[in-house]
Amino acid sequence: MSFDHQKYVAFQPVRKADRRWPDQVIERAPTWCAVDLRDGNQALVKPMTVQQKQRLFDLLVKLGFKEIEIGFPAASQPDFDFCRALIEENRIPDDVTIQVLTQAREELIARTFEALEGAPRAIVHVYNSTSTVQREQVFGMDRAGIREIAIQGANWVKRHAESRPDTDWTFQYSPESFTGTELDFAVEVIDAVTAVWRPDQAQRVIINLPATVEMATPNVFADQIEWVCDHIQYRPHVEISVHTHNDRGCAVAAAELAVMAGADRVEGTLMGNGERTGNMDLVTMAMNLYSQGVDPALDLSGMAEITEVVEACTEISTHPRHPYAGELVFTAFSGSHQDAIKKCLARRKEGETWHVAYLPIDPSDVGRRYEEVVRINSQSGKGGVAYVLERDYDITLPRWLQIEFSKLVQREAEENGGEIDSISIHRLFKKHYLGVMPGWELESYDLHRDSEGVVAQVRVGGEGGESLLLEGRAQGAVEAVASALEQRFGIRLAVEAYDEFALGEGTTANALACIRVVVDGQPGSAAALAEDTTSATIQALLSGVSRLVKAGAGSGESVPAAMV
Ligand code: KIV
Ligand code: ZN
Repeated sequence: MSFDHQKYVAFQPVRKADRRWPDQVIERAPTWCAVDLRDGNQALVKPMTVQQKQRLFDLLVKLGFKEIEIGFPAASQPDFDFCRALIEENRIPDDVTIQVLTQAREELIARTFEALEGAPRAIVHVYNSTSTVQREQVFGMDRAGIREIAIQGANWVKRHAESRPDTDWTFQYSPESFTGTELDFAVEVIDAVTAVWRPDQAQRVIINLPATVEMATPNVFADQIEWVCDHIQYRPHVEISVHTHNDRGCAVAAAELAVMAGADRVEGTLMGNGERTGNMDLVTMAMNLYSQGVDPALDLSGMAEITEVVEACTEISTHPRHPYAGELVFTAFSGSHQDAIKKCLARRKEGETWHVAYLPIDPSDVGRRYEEVVRINSQSGKGGVAYVLERDYDITLPRWLQIEFSKLVQREAEENGGEIDSISIHRLFKKHYLGVMPGWELESYDLHRDSEGVVAQVRVGGEGGESLLLEGRAQGAVEAVASALEQRFGIRLAVEAYDEFALGEGTTANALACIRVVVDGQPGSAAALAEDTTSATIQALLSGVSRLVKAGAGSGESVPAAMV
């Protein structure tokens, strides 16, 4: 059997008696470093062109990144050329520092400094692999040998930097495959490297701890980070950075817990592109902070532009469920969710903090429209359908009609098998409720009260057909019209419900009336739009009765031909 879990062993947790990070709350954004142009690029089927790199670099700058890893110039000619172009064409803003990666090898470090010649500021990021597996199986080296590679790398970086004093240098070291490295050995190597660089106020040093492969739950990574922070020698002068990959799908969570555990800086990529399952997604982590009321120190309000540029540069499309950025992430199809969202949005007052069920953030903050929030398919309910009619057509439905109409919408959606848009919903509403049958159009009415109640005189006709005067008397206006219809057509008519609504500006009609009638035991509903509420109500009553009469209610004898 090839699907055999016994092939694997559990990651050993960190023994820690003084775990403090679970009680921490992130109250400010870490320093961000975007590695899209290096780690992200290295993972692409088709690496970015210089033009694509420039486009993505410009976006990163626009979003507010102050540290951007732009490539691995010693390993790639396009990366070298891009680095040179940025420097020579003066394209690095004053508040932005470029970072480049190099292995801890002499010739590569020399070439890296060549690429950086003339840069005003730069972070030189040197790495070597320290994990047990890599030591034993890839390099065939013991701990001392691996530590020596790191020390040599640090020395070469220092020497090259000293020979170019016009650039403001920051040194960064990554014990690559940190998550697979014994913690005491990771600290031994980090201390050895920092002893070479001697960080102080004048010499900034970044120690970047990568989850090159995500090997355990995020709490284990947080323990590893806290452990390193507690045990390294130069902690006060060292910036602890984390760089998580997403093999277990928890790269963002691991970075968040790492910040709780003491990390000052986070490396990642926009939308999480990167090796295998990707790097940690900067957009998600920054938006997670934003949704907690923490300034993410990035401007992610133009999410559409972010996804457009990332897609164009990586040639990877954004998943519709991608947190904060996907097409469907602010959309509710389910009826109960739609109901709750509709109620919360209706109660919400401008300027209040955000408390809307099912929406972790206000979609408009990232440039999304409320139109996308409620979309209708066969799983949607009355609330959603009513919300769409009200939002797009200013039509308010009474609850009883919401229930009835949503069943029609559901049937239609089931037949179509997919989403039903707002235009189709409106068309369906018009077809089922607003249509006036030939001969049943209200031409005029007169309602007046005398000592015995209300007298209704209603003239119906239309479309050049014969016009008919109906007369009735009752205690109320609707009842009087109903009585006129009963007498004229020999039917038993009961009005079960009726509601009228004034319509907002921008519509030709001023009123909408909805009515539910029972004619000779058969129920039916109708609605009408008119200039005034009385006309709308009478027309709705006429429409409701006419459909039932056409369907066979009443004697039909006294109904004019045009009406049936
Ligand atoms: O994932 C990784 O370990 C890296 C390092 C080079 C930092 O990308
Ligand atoms: Zn990486």
